[in-house]
Amino acid sequence: MAKERLDKILASQNLGSRKEVGAMIRAGRAAVHGTAVKSPAQKFDPQADPITVDGKPLNFKRHLYLMLNKPEGVLSASRDPHARTVVDLLPPHLQRRGIFPAGRLDRDTRGLLILTDDGGFAHRMLAPKSHVTKWYEALLESPVQEQDVLRFRRGVELSDGMICLPAELSVLRRGDHPIALVGLREGKFHQVKRMFAACENHVLSLRRVRIGGLFLDPQLEEGGARELEEAEAARVFERQNG
Ligand code: URA
Repeated sequence: MAKERLDKILASQNLGSRKEVGAMIRAGRAAVHGTAVKSPAQKFDPQADPITVDGKPLNFKRHLYLMLNKPEGVLSASRDPHARTVVDLLPPHLQRRGIFPAGRLDRDTRGLLILTDDGGFAHRMLAPKSHVTKWYEALLESPVQEQDVLRFRRGVELSDGMICLPAELSVLRRGDHPIALVGLREGKFHQVKRMFAACENHVLSLRRVRIGGLFLDPQLEEGGARELEEAEAARVFERQNG
């Protein structure tokens, strides 16, 4: 691993701006291999050199992976001058420069959203060729017809002529307003809503419950976020059947 300036390392771990951590270092609050280092420009390998700040080990993480239970009415974006975003919902200890939502949910869609500062992870998760299925629970206006399941499996044609990749559709709760489970491995604009619209149905509400092998944590209240363990983040790429 390449060596990096100490101030850059500490700033990347949400300990303050470059200026703030520079002041901390000059004040002698950082140590490497047990020896105080007072030069912000001195370079270390954050994964090999043990760093402490105020005597506490720096638990260096190259990237951050978060699970958010997105509520309705919040924009899937990093920052927006006019609207509250999913990044605005994060508590200060989970904020990090460069954090962004990996994929978007509509403003009125709830449920599982992953935020990270790892662009490669997000790209891999979203690329259809990675076969990471995103699972949604849709509350519907009308019952699901048997031919809808076949249409989803073959690839629904949307109103603009676009053909979707094969998708999973099953009914979780029958009735006048059923709840359907939908599995997609792509993310076209308003896709679930438009797929049901193509089947003359209407989505009343939509919630994402799972990405690949990673389920929305049932303990996480709406609007809540928590860090994912590395093994949990890796579950996104596990192939599991519905
Ligand atoms: N499909 C939709 O229609 N909306 C979402 O937010 C996600 C998938």
